Amino acid sequence: MDAADMGNDLAEVLISEQQLNDKLDEMAADIDRDYRGKEVLLVGVLNGAVMVMADLSRRLHTHCTMDWMAVSSYGSGTKSSGVVRILKDLSADVMGKHVLIVEDIIDSGLTLSWLIKNLASREPASLRVATMLRKPDAAKAHVEVAYCGFDIPNKFVVGYGLDYAGKYRNLPFIGTLAPHVYRS
Ligand code: PRP
Repeated sequence: MDAADMGNDLAEVLISEQQLNDKLDEMAADIDRDYRGKEVLLVGVLNGAVMVMADLSRRLHTHCTMDWMAVSSYGSGTKSSGVVRILKDLSADVMGKHVLIVEDIIDSGLTLSWLIKNLASREPASLRVATMLRKPDAAKAHVEVAYCGFDIPNKFVVGYGLDYAGKYRNLPFIGTLAPHVYRS
């Protein structure tokens, strides 16, 4: 899928495919440097992190394994309430492993701050976060991020794993939607 397939649903391209690729190169180089001589367990948070996980992991020279979690916020009716339910847990124990959580976006930070506490209680050797996007103006909880692609404005964004009503995840760039999409 590309911008032409979006018709007039696309308002603007915020981060191009080239910018994403360049940033992925940088992030992978940083991770390789920091985990030299170690093996890292990449934990992707479904569904949005699929693209970052695939593209980041393929750039790594560091040996890695991969696992996935699916979580859902609930409790207040809003998207991120900070009350999180595990829909799919990790397949294996993380005790003693170097865990790197891989996310597409940190919005309020509530999901990740819960996830960090949850995974930390499983006693990994180390626990860090990599995210492609972060919205500093939307933060409700502080999350320590070791590898961050881009800080973006507090706009609703789609593409590169991020959806609106389940769609647009397969856009190769990050864009914003035209207002008529939300109204329809
Ligand atoms: C997105 C994203 C993060 C979370 C961030 O997932 O992938 O997991 O929201 O939001 P927060 O910082 O405000 O807690 P979402 O719940 O949309 O699910 P998805 O990945 O399946 O799209």
